[in-house]
Amino acid sequence: MPLRLTPLEYMLSRLNILPTPLFDTPLAPGIAKILVTACELEVFDVLGKQRLTLQVLAEKLNCHPQGLQLLLQLLVSAGYLHYRQNTYSNTRMTRRWLLSSSPVSIAPYILHSPDIVAIWDHLSEVIHTDAQVIRMPYEEDASLPENQILLARHYAGLASLATALGSEIISRVSMPPNATRLLDVGGSHAAYSVLFCRKNPRMHATIMDIQPGIEAGIRTAKHMKMVDKLSFIEANIVQDDFPTLFSDPFDIALYFHIAHLLQPELNQATLAKVVQTLRPGGILVFVDQVTDQTHGSRLASLMVQFMALTMVTVGGTCYPFQTVKEWLELAGMEQVRNHRLITPGAALITAVKKA
Ligand SMILES: C[S@@+](CC[C@H](N)C(=O)[O-])C[C@H]1O[C@@H](n2cnc3c(N)ncnc32)[C@H](O)[C@@H]1O
Repeated sequence: MPLRLTPLEYMLSRLNILPTPLFDTPLAPGIAKILVTACELEVFDVLGKQRLTLQVLAEKLNCHPQGLQLLLQLLVSAGYLHYRQNTYSNTRMTRRWLLSSSPVSIAPYILHSPDIVAIWDHLSEVIHTDAQVIRMPYEEDASLPENQILLARHYAGLASLATALGSEIISRVSMPPNATRLLDVGGSHAAYSVLFCRKNPRMHATIMDIQPGIEAGIRTAKHMKMVDKLSFIEANIVQDDFPTLFSDPFDIALYFHIAHLLQPELNQATLAKVVQTLRPGGILVFVDQVTDQTHGSRLASLMVQFMALTMVTVGGTCYPFQTVKEWLELAGMEQVRNHRLITPGAALITAVKKA
């Protein structure tokens, strides 16, 4: 965590004796920078096998020992490494969330995070205009090598978040009896579809996305050995007509982190097309940052507010529960339910298609 205060520091900060804004900057962005750098250098994975001295670690990472020491000391102070008996080792938090061998590693999302931070360079323009300033990564020319690298990093980051944090969502969704067909709208990396197919071995998922997203999904399918369980269809979810793409109805449709990309009228129209693909009694599962679903959590509030800022900059926004409920009901859904999650900043909404 950027702020790991001792009890005395915490007390002094509460009494407004310490200059708290100095912790938010430059300390917080500095900690972000050392964390990303450590992931890029693979410091944590190299230390994942054994604790190492500075000298050995510098040799393995091909770094200058004194230069590396500056980074390692900061990682110790920030809580990512221990330094004991002349050797460095990973902390418990690092082992769980940052080692590539951990099933819940979010290191790919950390590596993607500078791309998000770069969007905030446009903050002042957004404040002055409340308008889109740059394009979404999906609208960039995917034939350019630099955009291919950026998109691959983006999808890998999202996939790691889905794999690490998605099981809570999947455990809260009651699948319709005998459900076998799932549509993942804008499902790209396919990690959520994989979780649903693992929960229900009879399930087959169809992932709809643009070409670079599908490439990411195919990588996941091969990596997770789920090729037989997943199909991919290249489509534009806003422009294409869904009923012409699918002959058989689906039991479940996922609309995960799509709403914040689109303006209200496009969400309404896209959700209506998604609902058309469902059988009566089928369920629609909606996941996104929902502005009034932060449940008094400061972490959730920060996450949702930063997402809204990011999305407005690229032409989207975040919505309150009532708006989502109205879209779903207008599209022919009922029993619209909001589920409270432990994962901060994510809201889960489910609805059933009218018989
Ligand atoms: C924020 S990501 C969410 C990915 C995934 N559903 C998740 O929750 O992690 C948005 C997804 O929508 C896809 N997407 C954006 N615009 C699209 C369009 N017009 N047609 C098809 N897919 C689109 C992107 O490629 C990306 O996979």
